[in-house]
Amino acid sequence: VRVALVFGGRSGEHAISAATAAGVMRAIDRDTYDVLPVGITREGQWVLAPDDPARWELAAGRLPEVTTDAGPALASLGEAGPVDVVFPLLHGPYGEDGTIQGLLELAGVRYVGAGVLASAVGMDKHYMKLVFAGHGLPVGPYVVVLPRAWEQDPSAVVDRVQAELRFPVYVKPARAGSSLGVTRVEDLTGLADAIEEARAHDPKVLVEQALVGREIECAVLGGRAGGPTRASVPGEIVVDHDAADFYDFEAKYLSDSQARTQAPADLPDDVAERVRALAVQAFEAIGGEGLSRVDVFVAPDGDVVINEINTMPGFTPISMYSKMWEASGLAYTDLVGELIQLALE
Ligand code: DAL
Ligand code: MG
Repeated sequence: VRVALVFGGRSGEHAISAATAAGVMRAIDRDTYDVLPVGITREGQWVLAPDDPARWELAAGRLPEVTTDAGPALASLGEAGPVDVVFPLLHGPYGEDGTIQGLLELAGVRYVGAGVLASAVGMDKHYMKLVFAGHGLPVGPYVVVLPRAWEQDPSAVVDRVQAELRFPVYVKPARAGSSLGVTRVEDLTGLADAIEEARAHDPKVLVEQALVGREIECAVLGGRAGGPTRASVPGEIVVDHDAADFYDFEAKYLSDSQARTQAPADLPDDVAERVRALAVQAFEAIGGEGLSRVDVFVAPDGDVVINEINTMPGFTPISMYSKMWEASGLAYTDLVGELIQLALE
């Protein structure tokens, strides 16, 4: 089976995508799968990339990058030769948002993961919340800041946030990932700057009331042959709040000390079950396929609120998605195989 691993891309999560590709390259079962690595530069040029995990790893202090000198340029994916399945290991806009999924649908090529609509909904934190709420799933309080509203009357936006939310809040670009452009804001004074910062990533911005509780995640796999959607044991992100404001880009990828992850999370059985059930419901609400990671907050009283879904979560061997499956009895290499088999079904 010939598998194209597509990675890099035009989003701010370019380097994280390359790191995910390195993990998959290293672990994929080479007896079963022929690997065709295809990199996309930050400018959007596709190249036939070296099948060399070390080159794409996230090593301390170095963010990997696909450049045009990585290999021969490709005018199209077809130019790389026929493939049985594409693994779009792309995070963020132009990859995790339905764009490459649409291209592959048009070309009639099978691919791993969510389709066009689920990818687009999972990328846009505004529509994601509307879809969850429309399915009766618990989401936190938020205010959406549309481009025109901010451009015409920023003070009206600030007034609305003050009227509808309690501080602290998180200000986020609607369509981004890995916490890029996200600021935690303690009071009104920092709000306008944080909105401008988020707008540098996406003209549409969300202001979310900070959710109280533990940061818990759950990994989801689509069902085999129409079978039920599968949820892993939940895991936990434990942030050292003396070292990091929140689980931001640095704490996620660049620091060994600002945050640690634990899978399984130490939760009462009934709470863990609620998290798993909600993760499956969130996946099904957006029409997910293949994989997703659902991030929630568990309040001290056991109440669970969904923070977001990621339809192409980072999954190097040490990423939460893979660690939660590992803790559930599915090893990383088998997880990669399972995802490809789901796409071929
Ligand atoms: N957006 C990053 C890759 C994640 O959700 O894991
Ligand atoms: Mg996300």
